[in-house]
Amino acid sequence: MAKITAYGVRPNERPYFDRLNHDHFEMTYVADLLTHANADRARGADGILVRGNCVVDRENLRQFAKWGIRAVFTRSVGVNHIDLAAAAEFGIQIARVPGYSPYAVAELALTLGLSLFRHVDAAVQRTRQGDFRVPASYFSRELHTATVGIIGAGRIGMAEARLYRGLGAPHPKVADRQVVTFGDRATVLGHSDIVSVHVPYIPGENDQSLDQQFLAQMKPQAVLVNTARGELADPAAILRALDVGQLGGYGADVVTNETQLIGQDFGQAATVPDAAVRQLLAHPRVMVTPHMGSFTEPALEDMIKVSYQNFREWWATGRVTNGVSVRTHG
Ligand code: COI
Repeated sequence: MAKITAYGVRPNERPYFDRLNHDHFEMTYVADLLTHANADRARGADGILVRGNCVVDRENLRQFAKWGIRAVFTRSVGVNHIDLAAAAEFGIQIARVPGYSPYAVAELALTLGLSLFRHVDAAVQRTRQGDFRVPASYFSRELHTATVGIIGAGRIGMAEARLYRGLGAPHPKVADRQVVTFGDRATVLGHSDIVSVHVPYIPGENDQSLDQQFLAQMKPQAVLVNTARGELADPAAILRALDVGQLGGYGADVVTNETQLIGQDFGQAATVPDAAVRQLLAHPRVMVTPHMGSFTEPALEDMIKVSYQNFREWWATGRVTNGVSVRTHG
């Protein structure tokens, strides 16, 4: 059967890849994400499977094409880590996983939102230092009296709306009238105590769109959560809004420059090699997690199943339903 090199397969994920490999693909697992340094682990493979934050740039794609590799598939929804134009130029088919358990990201977004809304992260940071005071800044509203705004009413956004609804939030504002109230963006931002963003990042189109203008439309002291992509946020504007008291908190599972950061241990925040990320980490009302939203068992199983299905279809027919091209993306 076809040989596939899969990058970014953590040791706990390997049994899932093995168990779901009903087609008996010959798998080579590489624990690290794809970089320029380990691209040669794919030499001799028929296809490559990557995840988000793997370096699928022109240089690596050119190399893969030279080695006769014609399929580079990602098990992520987002494809912003892939140079689609270069792939087309080198005749390499790209495919993705269009969706996996939406609760994976939705639950994390909810957790970040609630932690900031009830000042849990700030309080935990202080009790760790032995400080058990309850400052006035911890005074909170309650969720059942609050409004939650979801920007991006796709599968993840709707799952988060259902979760909030289940917790008693009366008016999550998005698309499905069964669960939520529909509103235009300005209305959603102006009324919401927690705003959670679930839109794809399209380079050149919505870079840094969570900017000063966006933040100014938000209700004062509301919480902003971004589990989509770091590039959607303008970190300088967010820090300013936090400092002048416009924004109550920022929760992010995503940052800029992730290919340099995710999967690395820098020992301390001060040595993280990205100034904007360092500033966010230093702020007491910012919570950052290491892009772990999709790291759940149901999501992992879905990603693997659909990825194998993509390869199966590609090998059998030379086509793939979940294929991605420059034309379909951007
Ligand atoms: C995606 O599927 O797009 C994600 O954000 C997951 C991640 C591991 C890149």
